[in-house]
Amino acid sequence: MTRTSYDEIPYADYCFPRTHPEHLFAVSALCGRTAPAFTRCRVLELGCARGANLLPMALDLPESEFVGIDLSAAQITEARRRADELGLANVSFRAESISALSDDAPFDYVICHGVYSWVPPAVRDAILAACRERMRPAGVAYVSFNALPGWNALRTIRDFLLDHAPPGPALPRVALARRALAVLDESLRTEPSHGAAWLRGELSELALTDDAYLFHEYLEPVNDALYLRDFVAHAQAHGLTHLADADLRVAAPALRQGVGDPLALAQSIDFTRNRRFRASLLVHAETAAGGADPASLARLHLATRAQRADADIAALIVEGAVTFRYDDRSIVLRDPWMKCALHVLALEDRRPVAYAALAASVAARLGLDHRAALVAAAAHAPDVLELVFDGSLTLHAGAARYAEAAGLRPVASRIARMQAKTEDVVTTLRHTRIALADEARMMLRLADGTRDRAALLAGFPHDARSSAQRAGDCEEALDWLASNALLTE
Ligand SMILES: C[S@@+](CC[C@H](N)C(=O)[O-])C[C@H]1O[C@@H](n2cnc3c(N)ncnc32)[C@H](O)[C@@H]1O
Repeated sequence: MTRTSYDEIPYADYCFPRTHPEHLFAVSALCGRTAPAFTRCRVLELGCARGANLLPMALDLPESEFVGIDLSAAQITEARRRADELGLANVSFRAESISALSDDAPFDYVICHGVYSWVPPAVRDAILAACRERMRPAGVAYVSFNALPGWNALRTIRDFLLDHAPPGPALPRVALARRALAVLDESLRTEPSHGAAWLRGELSELALTDDAYLFHEYLEPVNDALYLRDFVAHAQAHGLTHLADADLRVAAPALRQGVGDPLALAQSIDFTRNRRFRASLLVHAETAAGGADPASLARLHLATRAQRADADIAALIVEGAVTFRYDDRSIVLRDPWMKCALHVLALEDRRPVAYAALAASVAARLGLDHRAALVAAAAHAPDVLELVFDGSLTLHAGAARYAEAAGLRPVASRIARMQAKTEDVVTTLRHTRIALADEARMMLRLADGTRDRAALLAGFPHDARSSAQRAGDCEEALDWLASNALLTE
């Protein structure tokens, strides 16, 4: 196998929550389709790089089997080394091309993130052929791509950088590109136009990206963005149908029931939003589904990052506005059922709650009898779905698979412990990434299941703090790990 540019500059280690089989299952269920059980499935990732996306999934779902393939032998060697270090037997990595897959056994889920736009047309065909031929009919594939019209303008930057960093070894090209970006930025400093302001905004974001991103996005020979409608036509030619965008906030307009032509609507919105990236969920054409059905929520779980901003708990069960907040967003609710529902989810601090359990808890707060509880749960499903669509709620297909609080001998996620040895950012058991403060990082390394509180405390730095203060800080670090889905016990 020839050496690839990814052997020279390996891709950064990211995990992508929307590629997780649980998410693919949940979106499929929302649209009325039953995908294969995500807790016992076979998953293929095409272009898996060093396994940063697949390894946490393999730890999370021990009864499922994961296969990652990538053309870059160096990246696959590192992915295998990590799998060995983690002692994982349910994941395998192979250095091979998407156009020459060796595993013939069918898969339930196929993931291909950040590859389709960056490979030649024959490999793009092979990606979609794999989704059709290697995936079971009920399965779901995730394929992301750089989208138009957003990339029309970014191509200007790419063409500029290709001009200033001619072919040659990768790292010197990155250095040339960074220098060219700085010169361009300087030359725009006194330019008063809107175009210059836009370009400078893009340049300042690019200046923050890592070398791998800059090189593979802007200096590789292939980076073909396309319109959603053209991607969907390509998928259709392979017997596949576009189910939804993997990001439900992006998918929402086309998923609402009763919209005329969902694809035409989604494409129009891409024009108005100047969309530059999409992640499409594809299914076999024969198993296509309609839009999102609020009634499907009955089979799903929900979670939220939002917290109630108003102090008065009594305000939940009477008419009147109550505000919940997350990040820089406010959600103002008036309906008692909706307020109680968000309150119940907020108390769970991002842990998924089954819709039926949520409805039962709300009914208890509002004093509804069994029949009234069922009626209210069904009646409020469309409003709950709108909160999913605006990102206030996240959709799940099952309960949390991580500890709610630290046990007597806390055990931290194996992959996070491995990552914490060399990195400040680790993967959580929610399949997200999080930066570690010093104490959390220390605790993560100590929490291997062999230490009780006294032993954890002994491993904590002995400094000027009182022993009570140290014990408090130790407990706080454990709480932080639990709340951020980094403990299994
Ligand atoms: C932009 S990176 C994305 C990596 C990872 N999926 C992510 O998003 O972090 C593209 C990956 O596709 C791999 N790749 C490119 N062409 C390939 C091919 N023909 N067969 C298999 N892998 C390929 C590259 O080696 C690289 O690891």
